[in-house]
Amino acid sequence: MGIMRTKSIEQSIRDTEEPEFQLRKALGPIDLIVFGIGVIIGTGIFVLTGVAAATYTGPAVSLSFVVAGIACALAALCYAEFASTVPVAGSAYTFSYASIGEFVAWIIGWDLILEFTVGAATVSVGWSGYFSQILSSFFGVSLPTAITSAEEGLMNLPAAIIALLLTVILVVGIRLSSGFNLVVTIIKLSVVVFFIGLGIFYVQADNLTPFIPPAAPPEGGGSFFEAPLLQSILGIEQTTFGFSGIITGAAVVFFAYIGFDVVATTAEEARNPRRDLPIGILGSLAICTILYILVSQIMTGIVPYTDLNDPAPMALAFSSIGLNVAAGAVSIGAICGLTSVIMILMLGQSRVAFAMSRDNLLPRYFARSHPRFRTPYRITILTGIVVAIMAAFFPLTSLANLVSIGTLFAFVLVAGGVMILRRTRPDLPRSFKTPLVPVVPILAILICLYLMLSLTGGTWIRFIVWMLLGVIIYFAYSVRASRLARGLSAEEAAREMR
Ligand code: ALA
Repeated sequence: MGIMRTKSIEQSIRDTEEPEFQLRKALGPIDLIVFGIGVIIGTGIFVLTGVAAATYTGPAVSLSFVVAGIACALAALCYAEFASTVPVAGSAYTFSYASIGEFVAWIIGWDLILEFTVGAATVSVGWSGYFSQILSSFFGVSLPTAITSAEEGLMNLPAAIIALLLTVILVVGIRLSSGFNLVVTIIKLSVVVFFIGLGIFYVQADNLTPFIPPAAPPEGGGSFFEAPLLQSILGIEQTTFGFSGIITGAAVVFFAYIGFDVVATTAEEARNPRRDLPIGILGSLAICTILYILVSQIMTGIVPYTDLNDPAPMALAFSSIGLNVAAGAVSIGAICGLTSVIMILMLGQSRVAFAMSRDNLLPRYFARSHPRFRTPYRITILTGIVVAIMAAFFPLTSLANLVSIGTLFAFVLVAGGVMILRRTRPDLPRSFKTPLVPVVPILAILICLYLMLSLTGGTWIRFIVWMLLGVIIYFAYSVRASRLARGLSAEEAAREMR
């Protein structure tokens, strides 16, 4: 059935020139770094750091950030090569269509949809936590649990509302979005730097010892669903903290780094993608890694880690030492920061789905860009609705871990793709080259697999169900609808669509 067919890189680039499918090229290198930081710093650092420290790592959560940062740096070096070779919307999806084949490309695309859509829902839930916190500490208003929590109440209404509001902004256009994003990202960065600058004076050595709490059985015992898959496979009794706690912690806080790869989805909107995409990807990742290590260490230095399992741990750190105004400032910054993350994840999702429908692997109805705003508005609206529904009805950590496993899997495929493309198309101009191929891609694959295996059995099951659904859709629809299968050029496809 030709599921290994590849779409030539030249064809991918040509497709972007067809006016029906065109996006506006407005982004420069600084825009891309801001865009990267805008999506990277979010629920991971603002919420999951506390969860990871309290349940898996203790003060050694900073080491988890180091481990996850290394995995991301290796993957980013691979992403940067791909993005500089195939500067077309769709990120890893497009790269793998050009290098490995249609089926794998579909799998990655389907996986990226998971990353971005479920990611946006996860961050919307984190947003709602800080929103409730601000309402109660500034205005003394407590929203009823029934409408602020999917776990303890009926649904998370603020999370759904923010997702829908941001959908409207995205439909109106990326220019408005990137201006909005710049302001928000500056506020968010200032808050993070403020946390570091002020918090460092309140670190107490007592809170940091023992730095790596000894391994212990998890509270309430662990079932297959709750234990890291590796421990279940090897038949090791489940433990938390200690060395394996640091690795599980790394898999959990990995979510905090997700987003540098989203920079690659904007390839068609960059003015000089071959040079600027690698700058955007590596630059934003480097800045965030340093900030994360500092923030997580300071947070666990201010408060005993056992207290950090809170929906707003960064604000909690300050309020626990009586710095209530500073805690309020952090909450406001977090709200702003989380807003931009949701928006960019939805933007990334619409770009990937746009690329997939342009290839007719998804119905081409979605590929139409708006005649005036030049945005893929149909897919954006659908995405917004799905994100709102998930944010309303699912708990934060299950969503976050599902996103992490999906993204780690995408990294594995991208790293593999770089090695394949080096063999199959050595001739292509690569303005950025991954160093030390195949060492860097192989290390990236191994570390990402290790982190995947450190996530729970329940997360694996949800991930496998999602991927199987993707396989069914591919064989039921996409394999025949595929533009490549039918030998249609972009122009013919556009004509069919009218
Ligand atoms: N890295 C992003 C966050 O932490 C997805 O919210």
